[in-house]
Amino acid sequence: MMAQDLLTITDLHRAELDHLLKQAERCKRSRTLGARTLAGKTVALVFQKPSMRTRVAFEVAVLQLGGTVIYLGQDDIQLGQREPINDVARVLSRYVDGIVVRVFAHRDAEEFAACANVPVINGLSDLVHPCQALADLLTLQERFNRLKGLRLAYVGDGNNVLHSLIQGCAMLGVRVAVATPAGYRPDPSIWKAASAAARASGGSLEWMADPRAAVRGADAVYTDVWVSMGQEAQRVKRLAAFRAYQVNAALLKLAKPRCGVLHCLPAHRGEEITGAVMESPRSWIVDQAENRLHAHKALLMLLFNKHG
Ligand code: CP
Ligand code: NVA
Repeated sequence: MMAQDLLTITDLHRAELDHLLKQAERCKRSRTLGARTLAGKTVALVFQKPSMRTRVAFEVAVLQLGGTVIYLGQDDIQLGQREPINDVARVLSRYVDGIVVRVFAHRDAEEFAACANVPVINGLSDLVHPCQALADLLTLQERFNRLKGLRLAYVGDGNNVLHSLIQGCAMLGVRVAVATPAGYRPDPSIWKAASAAARASGGSLEWMADPRAAVRGADAVYTDVWVSMGQEAQRVKRLAAFRAYQVNAALLKLAKPRCGVLHCLPAHRGEEITGAVMESPRSWIVDQAENRLHAHKALLMLLFNKHG
């Protein structure tokens, strides 16, 4: 049986992930698909950090599926400060039918899900960003009409976005090359599990320090900010550490001629990516952001059709 919650993309079985991506493609073709899925239901968004894409794409997804949405920002709930997560999760579960959380510490998302008795979706934690990876995979799938064997390069910080990306790619046979500075490698236990999953699916996962080696022959190149939310105090140190990891025109010359560029957004032009690359025809970034909506709808349909 599938988990009630989506805290990491590995909460989905392979078949569920395949189904979800196909359903998301159908949602993209037909805006009214599943229009009654959430009829009479309410979904709350409990966010400790700012958000544009995750918040708006979930709000619109819930509305298009016939439900009602309540946004609760950090000033409203003060999760863990005004009252413990346990109390918030249990009481909210009496009012609403599903909860999307965006938290600093991943263990807070886990605690929230353990205490709630409605589905909890992780809308980003310091460890992972599974909803982003769903849209990333959807974007690759629609561009190439396949995922298995694709060569994806990730250049930059070994962060939450990368963790979900490698977990998802490993399930679906994508060949991923990751270039980060040695001190900013991905989480070792996520890496180990993703490497094993990649071997089983016919994909691969390789780390290297040199971004040029990672990008060589890539079908798509992915990057994310060097300073994630909550890391602002490390900004100067991080900018120095990542200087050689910018996705720019010179780096992309090493990739396949028609290679695409992905970024979860928000982007810092002139840091991890140049403005010219963002605005070039190679950039699939706005399509990728649009795909958050379709992926969220497919995810809500999967969770609520099973547990509604
Ligand atoms: N990519 C993403 O999650 O964007 P937001 O932080 O705006 O939600
Ligand atoms: N790594 C970024 C992703 C934002 C969507 C962060 O955590 O701030």
